[in-house]
Amino acid sequence: MGLFSFTQEIAMDLGTANTIIISNGKIVVDEPSVVALDRRTDKMIAVGEKARQMHGKTHENIRTIRPLRDGVIADFYACEQMMRGMIKMMNTHHRLFSPSLRMVICVPSGSTEVELRAVRDSAEHAGGRDVYLIFEPMAAAIGIGIDVEAPEGNMIVDIGGGSTEIAVISLGGIVSNKSIRIAGDDLTSDIQEYMGRQHNLKIGERTAEQIKIHVGAALTELEDAPEDFIVHGPNRMTALPMEVPVCYQEIAHCLEKSIAKMETAILSALEQTPPELYADIVHNGIYLAGGGALLRGLDKRLTDKINIPFHIAEDPLHAVAKGTGVALKNVDKFSFLMR
Ligand SMILES: Nc1ncnc2c1ncn2[C@@H]1O[C@H](COP(=O)(O)OP(=O)(O)OP(=O)(O)O)[C@@H](O)[C@H]1O
Ligand SMILES: [Mg+2]
Repeated sequence: MGLFSFTQEIAMDLGTANTIIISNGKIVVDEPSVVALDRRTDKMIAVGEKARQMHGKTHENIRTIRPLRDGVIADFYACEQMMRGMIKMMNTHHRLFSPSLRMVICVPSGSTEVELRAVRDSAEHAGGRDVYLIFEPMAAAIGIGIDVEAPEGNMIVDIGGGSTEIAVISLGGIVSNKSIRIAGDDLTSDIQEYMGRQHNLKIGERTAEQIKIHVGAALTELEDAPEDFIVHGPNRMTALPMEVPVCYQEIAHCLEKSIAKMETAILSALEQTPPELYADIVHNGIYLAGGGALLRGLDKRLTDKINIPFHIAEDPLHAVAKGTGVALKNVDKFSFLMR
């Protein structure tokens, strides 16, 4: 797009945890999916990281909202405000008014008609004139670099904040898919609950996520073990300040149940896969994308358990967005995009 072009083209990964916008092949926005609204006027106060910093620290006149839950829009107004804010963020550098905005947005593969409609409406209200939708696992596969139009089966497991999506792709279409609402956010709340129960320590969502990122693990024995992570917070009973070192083994135990549910979902998706495609998948391995793919030892655990090699996408947090960006460049060619 040149400075004088009349169409601005963007690709958006509207995620439960993070929203990413790609324009001209570059990531121009990468922010947490949070918006802060004025309670009295409903006006947007902040969006993205700025709004996240307010999360859990607001007074009665401000509310911070995560507009998506389990991968789908839960608060329409807030979502629209957030999309507007993020699109604006990207346009601050060059104040060129774009009369027409072409957008490709990805949506969970299990979306209902109503959910698809909701994303499309929000995008149109936020300024999109020409809106295309693409299913997330398809976008992830393209972002990973798979030839999605080949007559070959590939399995993608995208573990985001709100949902884990498992899909088999062949010949430019999704052959089968399975989606469960257990993902990164659930691992975070497992940790939050565990710290209260086991250590009598009261912590917020952000601290729990920090624990997950520093010492989260899917295996109780890691070759590359992280150092213990020191957590500060009030004692649940006495409210006195506490300092608790947390090791990865205990977090692996605390995440066990949720990870086992993801494992079961992957196994059940494999069970439903037609045999010819199954053979391709065993040969190619299974690709992990989404922020959840970064959990220590998850790839090894799944590889050992399922006996098919699991590969972590090169840049798991951005695979879906990257693929959506490629789809944007190919809107006329990719027949699997939805208008
Ligand atoms: N190093 C890490 N280890 C474990 N989990 C991580 C790590 N980094 C990020 N995450 C988790 O990944 C999740 C966010 O991933 P991602 O950005 O792919 O989700 P999303 O696309 O916003 O959500 P969804 O696709 O479900 O709508 C969060 O739950 C975050 O805590
Ligand atoms: Mg996602």
